[in-house]
Amino acid sequence: MIEQIQKIEEEIETFNAKDTSDIEKFRIRFLGSKGLIKGLYALLREVPNENKKEFGQKINDLRTIAESKLNNLKGSNKKPVNKKSEEDLSKPTRADSVGSHHPLSIIKREIEDIFKKIGFSISEGPEIEDDWHNFSALNFPPEHPARDMQDTFFIQKGKEEIALRTHTSSVQVRVMENNQPPIRTISPGRVYRNEAISARAHCFFHQVEGLYIDENVSFADLKQTLLYFAKEMFGEKAEIRLRPSFFPFTEPSAEVDVSCTICNGKGCNVCKYTGWLEILGCGMVYPNVLESSNIDSKKYSGFAFGMGVERIAQLKYKVNDLRIYSENDIRFLNQFKSEL
Ligand code: DAH
Repeated sequence: MIEQIQKIEEEIETFNAKDTSDIEKFRIRFLGSKGLIKGLYALLREVPNENKKEFGQKINDLRTIAESKLNNLKGSNKKPVNKKSEEDLSKPTRADSVGSHHPLSIIKREIEDIFKKIGFSISEGPEIEDDWHNFSALNFPPEHPARDMQDTFFIQKGKEEIALRTHTSSVQVRVMENNQPPIRTISPGRVYRNEAISARAHCFFHQVEGLYIDENVSFADLKQTLLYFAKEMFGEKAEIRLRPSFFPFTEPSAEVDVSCTICNGKGCNVCKYTGWLEILGCGMVYPNVLESSNIDSKKYSGFAFGMGVERIAQLKYKVNDLRIYSENDIRFLNQFKSEL
């Protein structure tokens, strides 16, 4: 038996482990529940009583040697077995697994940043809206065609008809109801219209609404704010022009064109040789609209504007088919990685 113990001791001392699997083999062979040392303890039963103490002591020593060897092996040999985890963990991850922001998110954020710089806050409202916030409070007469089923998605909620908002102008009502001037806010969000989907129209798209109410806010303030926006968004050379228009909630109202971003106003097929591209609607907030939200229209005046995010994206990225923005085509989305 002494011989046997010595042999095992030698084997323990000369054992070399290349990796963690070898260390585990060592543990099982010598210290496992069916291992060699356990086997020696079993043999102890057959040893005459007078030698039991001596042999027992020797096996205990052997176990201590095996345990400290095991600890040493664990400490010095940390190499993992698994091929995969042998990779250098400090290596950078593969760049191609990084996603990209959606072009509409990029443009939305750009618009937000431009207005934040001049003191506008960001406000949001619900996409499922009631008639009051989407239409009535904005001075839409009851028979106005925009309320027609053609344009608006209605949802029947019990006896009440609610709608998917058709524009983010509904948020300006909510802001006015809950705040007194001065108010300076923009409201980005998704809007819905009951339109057949084509390259030029979609049943949902995105807008950014702007609202500025204070004492003595004038049309000149509106023009200057929009010129600032156009230059920030399209470059220092950008010009704007305002054309008279109509919206129930503003008076006077205008549509705003920016000088063509492709030909700089010289005329090309994108601007249909006019040199101008339409980008938004705007106007001075109609006094009725202020009063509907409990704002004193004698003391305060304000301007509002609303722009389509897809429209701005079309002009910046020259992507003209509206449908591609919601098709989730990776080949399209990957092209915006550099914009991160
Ligand atoms: N809500 C309008 C639309 O969806 C856009 C708009 C025009 C918003 C004029 C305004 C505004 O705030 O003053 O077509």
